[in-house]
Amino acid sequence: HTIRVRVPGTSANCGPGFDAIGLACTVYNDLELTLKKEAGVKITISGEGAANIPCDGRNIVWRSVQYLLRKAGLLDQYPGAVIHMENNVPLSRGLGSSATAIVAGLKAANVLIGNRFNRRELLQFATDIEGHPDNVAPAIFGGFTVSTVTRGDVECFSFLPKFRMKLIVAVPDFPLSTRKARAVLPAQVPMADAVNNISRASMLVAALCKGNEKFLRNVFDDALHQPYRAKLIPGMYDVFAAARKAGALGANLSGAGPCLIAYALERRHCEEAVGEAMKAAFRQHDVEAKILIMD
Ligand code: HSE
Repeated sequence: HTIRVRVPGTSANCGPGFDAIGLACTVYNDLELTLKKEAGVKITISGEGAANIPCDGRNIVWRSVQYLLRKAGLLDQYPGAVIHMENNVPLSRGLGSSATAIVAGLKAANVLIGNRFNRRELLQFATDIEGHPDNVAPAIFGGFTVSTVTRGDVECFSFLPKFRMKLIVAVPDFPLSTRKARAVLPAQVPMADAVNNISRASMLVAALCKGNEKFLRNVFDDALHQPYRAKLIPGMYDVFAAARKAGALGANLSGAGPCLIAYALERRHCEEAVGEAMKAAFRQHDVEAKILIMD
């Protein structure tokens, strides 16, 4: 059998929700998977990052397929596979391309073995592979997600905000690995910064669930990771300010960056202007950025 699955790109953190909050975007990767009883894997990739993704045993889709088969005790039965990916999610830009690949591999393999695992189990596997849940959770459940990890056990709920929003993403022309962007983070943070984030993350979720727009004005600020990562993304705070000036509710680093994401209410129809403003602000710092407008 061959199965085709589509998995969305995601934006993690959503400002104050470092490693906890995420959202699914309307940009997708497609995976076609066939499991083989003969050893050997054949991997082809088209679209975003095709030239930079390994097509051998290091391939993350293939590793995730094998992870799931091992969990099901079927690795010996299916030692090989044919994999084709069509990628639209930009690679190493902070839109969860690795989470998309992990979830696609797990999901496709799971369907081919008769849906032995439920989505909650897939979330646990995906989190164990990725190391944090905030991209894989929305890639599996959609919408906004809130996740917690307790002694390794992940829990998550997903919800849709009460009002329609537009997401405006500025994708800079340089990649940034999550590993590098995590290496600049401190091991400890000041209490006041923790309070800043706890209050904003709570307010963000409550305001989205309740449909209370006015409380969204100051909730996207972060003190736990963005200040340390700013040096890796020239002009980051200027782009945030430009987005707000053009009508966005707020803006933040998408995941570990370098993409920057702004949030706007759909009924304000300001997404084009916000995108232009973000692009222009990046250009002031000699960064060329592509704008994606998503729901
Ligand atoms: N929460 C993670 C981080 C997302 O900010 O490092 C990275 O994909």
